[in-house]
Amino acid sequence: MKIGIIGYGNIGSVIAKKLSKFYKVIVFDKDKDKLKNATTKKISVATSNIKLIENSQLIIIAVKPQDFDTLLDEIATCCVDKLVVSIAAGISLDTIKKKLKDARLIRIMPNLAIKVSRGMIFIATSKEVKEKDLRVVKKLFKKFGRVLFIDEKLMDAATAIGGSGPGFIYDFAEDKTQKEIKQYLEKVFIPQAKDTAISLGFSKREAVIIAKTTAEGSLKLLLDSKLSASDLKKQIASKGGTTEAGLLVLDNGGSLKEAFLAAQERAKQLSR
Ligand SMILES: NC(=O)c1ccc[n+]([C@@H]2O[C@H](COP(=O)([O-])OP(=O)(O)OC[C@H]3O[C@@H](n4cnc5c(N)ncnc54)[C@H](OP(=O)(O)O)[C@@H]3O)[C@@H](O)[C@H]2O)c1
Repeated sequence: MKIGIIGYGNIGSVIAKKLSKFYKVIVFDKDKDKLKNATTKKISVATSNIKLIENSQLIIIAVKPQDFDTLLDEIATCCVDKLVVSIAAGISLDTIKKKLKDARLIRIMPNLAIKVSRGMIFIATSKEVKEKDLRVVKKLFKKFGRVLFIDEKLMDAATAIGGSGPGFIYDFAEDKTQKEIKQYLEKVFIPQAKDTAISLGFSKREAVIIAKTTAEGSLKLLLDSKLSASDLKKQIASKGGTTEAGLLVLDNGGSLKEAFLAAQERAKQLSR
């Protein structure tokens, strides 16, 4: 199977490098500088998005939400019968469907811990997606961590806990020892993330998976990374995003649960 990845930035490049160990991967990015280091024995670079799509069975879109509409206009007519996976935060399957009418669509929300293969990865699918597609996508994203299929209506809650959660952990971890961080994860983060997940609509089983995977993946990334907790926090907390909304609550003395709820509220506002 040949996998095409549109957008070779933070997330697209992590996904491309990992998947290229198992599949043929073709990438394209409108920023030519990013592509300079992309070509390896296993990753090839397309000359355009259209050429990439023509040559791929599965397409992963990893561009920022604000670049999404322009991209969809460009590729609208060439995705017929293709399996398209979107990673863009806040862009609903319905919104994508309006432009990519004849594609089989999947939406995923990973967190940054996919960098160390310990990510929390939420997957929501449209009704055109076949059983076989689900198997393929599950197999693919299991390489990056724990996969959970969810109803799309839970995506904002998933973004708040699994996506922004690592940012809240790094906020705590900034001036702490490893022992203190571990205690915080066990005594504060995991119980509160689990309870919040349940209150937002996840089952108890799912809530435990989300809370533990987010905590363990964040710790692993911190320990394995050359970056400090502050640097990792900055990578996650994009301006005006869900993590920033939660961090503001924490800065003002709010609880972790309140931070999750603020992040979920921001995810709702950003969704379309
Ligand atoms: N970073 C995270 O932790 C995280 C977590 C979960 C989900 N996501 C989602 O993942 C997506 C990508 O995030 P990121 O942090 O990897 O962004 P990023 O580093 O900005 O990478 C996106 C790349 O796509 C390029 N691009 C934009 N429009 C394009 C087009 N029409 N055709 C080809 N390439 C195009 C951009 O080029 P220019 O720079 O020239 O615009 C940029 O190089 C976002 O939608 C985000 O919501 C990110």
